[in-house]
Amino acid sequence: MPGESLRAFIHALPKAELHVHLVGSAGVDTVLALARRHPEAGVPADRAELEQFFEFRDFDHFLKVYWAVQSMLKDRRDIRALVIGLAAELARQNVRYAEVTVTPYNHLLDGMPGDELLTGLVEGRAVARAEHNVELAWCFDIPGEKGVRAGRETAVFALRERPDGLVGFGLGGPEIGVGRAQFEPFFTAAREAGLHSVPHAGETSGPATIWSAVHDLGAERIGHGTSCTADPALLAWLAEHRIPVEVCPTSNVRTRQVPSIAAHPVRRMLDHGLVVTLNTDDPPMFGATLEGEYLAVATSLGLRAAEVARLAKNAVAASFLEDAAKAAMAAEIDQVVASGTGAEA
Ligand code: ADE
Ligand code: ZN
Repeated sequence: MPGESLRAFIHALPKAELHVHLVGSAGVDTVLALARRHPEAGVPADRAELEQFFEFRDFDHFLKVYWAVQSMLKDRRDIRALVIGLAAELARQNVRYAEVTVTPYNHLLDGMPGDELLTGLVEGRAVARAEHNVELAWCFDIPGEKGVRAGRETAVFALRERPDGLVGFGLGGPEIGVGRAQFEPFFTAAREAGLHSVPHAGETSGPATIWSAVHDLGAERIGHGTSCTADPALLAWLAEHRIPVEVCPTSNVRTRQVPSIAAHPVRRMLDHGLVVTLNTDDPPMFGATLEGEYLAVATSLGLRAAEVARLAKNAVAASFLEDAAKAAMAAEIDQVVASGTGAEA
């Protein structure tokens, strides 16, 4: 498919994003404005310097930068601004629905009152819907490096506050030395309350972490899952049980987990029949967009239009949207394919 028609086709597809962190979605201009107000955070207020600041040596370095940006968020206005900025960017790319990961424990530790966080989310979500026609849902996740205390507090906060649109319960941060199983009681409580289990696993560690996510945490989707291709039995199991993987190719390159998009295991995941979804993770920090992820994977793998549309449909099917909304989006994807946008493919 020639470049321009592939781009137009990808744009025309109504898209769902299932793996994007609120802090990591802060636009460059927003981060620059925050950095001017909070010089103590050590985040550059100069555009070129910020670009360099967003060059990551490895995953741990990325997390330190992420935490520095997070520390500048102080109140409901900051949260609201992030949510609305994310929605505007999603609308620009014809992304209609996103499940956004929020880490309440970290914001509370940084001194933001819980009410401020929740009000910012509620207000931002309303503006996203009214002004950008983007539907947002939330996933509250545990910062794994902070241990079982963070797990307990995150579950308590999520189940007590239960804001509209909260659909998922997750686990992020580093994986090495942070076993998934220790968080089992908190995932059990969240699942019993009707939240979906969506932990990160296999982003920075091996397939054993993914096995633990499914067995100990009841994972319904896997955040990243990059290392699943190292274990043929796991690949077969994920395919058989139709557990979707939230693949974030550019993120994995930028945190140096894989050398390039071409070398990304997404090809093998597709070859083994996994339900692959494409996502951005922390888009401005990685210089990523959802359209860009589709374009990069389609180009690198030489996908045909129908295969690209399948990726978009996978995300809709793997989302926690209601069935009617899923059916409407899937039908619209079919219409885009039938209309011949990018017909040269
Ligand atoms: N928090 C923000 N981005 C993350 C990622 N890619 N993995 C784990 N935790 C994160
Ligand atoms: Zn993530």
